[in-house]
Amino acid sequence: MPGMDATPIELNTKVAHPARMYDYCLGGKDNFAVDREAVRIFVERFPEGLDSARENRLFLYRVVRFLSREAGIRQFLDMGSGLPTQANVHQVAQRFQPDAHVVYVDNDPIVLVHGRALLAEDATTVIQADMTDPQDILARPEVRDLIDFDQPVAALFLSVPHSIPDDQQARDMFAAIVDALVPGSFLAASQFIGVHEEAARAHTQTANELGLVWKTRTVDGFQDLIAGLGLEPVPPGLVDVCDWRPDPHQPPLHPVDETLQPYIGWTAGDKLVKEFGGVLHKL
Ligand SMILES: C[S@@+](CC[C@H](N)C(=O)[O-])C[C@H]1O[C@@H](n2cnc3c(N)ncnc32)[C@H](O)[C@@H]1O
Repeated sequence: MPGMDATPIELNTKVAHPARMYDYCLGGKDNFAVDREAVRIFVERFPEGLDSARENRLFLYRVVRFLSREAGIRQFLDMGSGLPTQANVHQVAQRFQPDAHVVYVDNDPIVLVHGRALLAEDATTVIQADMTDPQDILARPEVRDLIDFDQPVAALFLSVPHSIPDDQQARDMFAAIVDALVPGSFLAASQFIGVHEEAARAHTQTANELGLVWKTRTVDGFQDLIAGLGLEPVPPGLVDVCDWRPDPHQPPLHPVDETLQPYIGWTAGDKLVKEFGGVLHKL
């Protein structure tokens, strides 16, 4: 399969990694003690973060279903794809567009390890790359083999801009990717936001204490990253991800383990932080 070499990959199991922490929140098994401990510390301070992470994954399903089924998109560039889990982008997209092509991009080597094992088919590939270097990604032969940039593409940045603390770097990244897409393409993005500056600052501080490269923004701070790109929001626009075309009948996620059970259900109350995002159309 394109992009799949057999180079051994080294994993750092002493430092928490966002991909593995997120996997733990989704009820996955591809995580280490350090990741589980980091999630536990995080949810003790921000219990609503667990539901929010899970709501983001449900949002991903609805976004990819909308893009493939309603918008007819057959090419997906999934930036910061995370570990393969349930209802991965290619599985959702190919349900509605059987010939959909998907490129998964992540900078965490563990994603490559699991991606190599899971994605043994020609229409998908996973590459290890830094999304803050979009020119590198756009030039990769594995990407060019699968994505025809003369046709509409959906670029997904779901639950990832908070991993790029530098606002200008994030703006440049979005601008470069949108610039490479033809009209008719889509950009989908979500990130953790704080309901006010103080919440965003405290959430960022907790993430940084856990060793994560991170910036929780406010709604304005997030919107500023994609303002000026000339994109048209798809209704209902940029919202709390749980309010983006909710569907009580969509496939559920795996349950979390016992340690995390007490933190499930917190988003029913007031939230200091939440995953916020939506889908934008390049006209
Ligand atoms: C929370 S997960 C999101 C997974 C998936 N997009 C979703 O919404 O379900 C964030 C992912 O972004 C990846 N990531 C963080 N910074 C990155 C960067 N600079 N380049 C590529 N991937 C990055 C992490 O390794 C992690 O797998």
